[in-house]
Amino acid sequence: MSEKLDLPTRMRRNRKSSAVRGLVRETILRPSDLIYPLFIHEDDRNDPIDSMPGCHRWGLAGLVDEVGEAHDAGVRAVVFFPKIADDLKSSDAAECYNPDGLVPQAIQAVKTHFPDIAVITDVALDPYNSDGHDGLVAKTETGGLKILNDETVEILCKQALCHAEVGADIVSPSDMMDGRVGEIRDALDDGDFEGVSILSYTAKYASAYYGPFRGALDSAPKAGDKKTYQIDPANAREAIREAELDIAEGADMIMVKPAGPYLDIVRSLRDTFDIPIAAYQVSGEYLMIKAAAKDGWIDEAKVAMESLIGIKRAGADMILTYFAKDVARALG
Ligand code: PBG
Repeated sequence: MSEKLDLPTRMRRNRKSSAVRGLVRETILRPSDLIYPLFIHEDDRNDPIDSMPGCHRWGLAGLVDEVGEAHDAGVRAVVFFPKIADDLKSSDAAECYNPDGLVPQAIQAVKTHFPDIAVITDVALDPYNSDGHDGLVAKTETGGLKILNDETVEILCKQALCHAEVGADIVSPSDMMDGRVGEIRDALDDGDFEGVSILSYTAKYASAYYGPFRGALDSAPKAGDKKTYQIDPANAREAIREAELDIAEGADMIMVKPAGPYLDIVRSLRDTFDIPIAAYQVSGEYLMIKAAAKDGWIDEAKVAMESLIGIKRAGADMILTYFAKDVARALG
């Protein structure tokens, strides 16, 4: 028999059984941490989305059923992304504040059936804009594209108000225009919606991980890219400056997006600010797990769970994830 090592500390003692591991566990993921993003369209069918296996574009009835299943599993927050018919898209994106539009209908349907669900709405022009950008587009003298900041913010305010008027609990500007949080706050307050919260996409990076989402909504930019408004993936300090501004302008919660490849940003914002932080596990992160699990190369349920624990451990209070329903069920 070999000599006993003289070790005052044996780390494995705290891992010796499920019960002991439970006692020392630092990060607990709960269904109430999760926000379920749902795609909707103006159609009664529920269409599976090719670029995002497991996800659907829901009709209103299908949406209510799906929210019901997520609710049964303990999810209490949802966010909607609309696929808008081509003939409703325009260069002024006016459909985004149509009170009878798809998103207002979805908000009303879900709030009627599930008053205790927090309904979050995305505020940005891309699903409604014939140019596919989050802001209004103008041509420059040299034939290039310019995304108009201040003109866009005016429309975002109308969009946020339109969502608030039919019962949205939280509006979530994902457009990355400068000054939009403060202007939306003022517009909401002037409309007597001081109780509606703002979850700002504060650190939204110009990421290739959004590819499958743009496929799902047919919302890819027709020309150019989003690099003049979304943050360069190489930059970390810039996220702190964005957060300072959004907090000063009245954001109630801030977001980092994508999540997995940007955990350092989640951590640095967590260490710098006390405001609640959301992280968005985006379509490409979801798809990579789905694709790797398709032929059994990895265990989907375990990898999905681990990916979310990692995001929470990095400092996120809440996580937007297409796995929300499945993971909430697994959490029991
Ligand atoms: C657009 C928006 C995007 C996502 C959420 N809101 C795409 C983009 O900025 O091009 C991406 C979400 C995902 O990839 O899951 N305002």
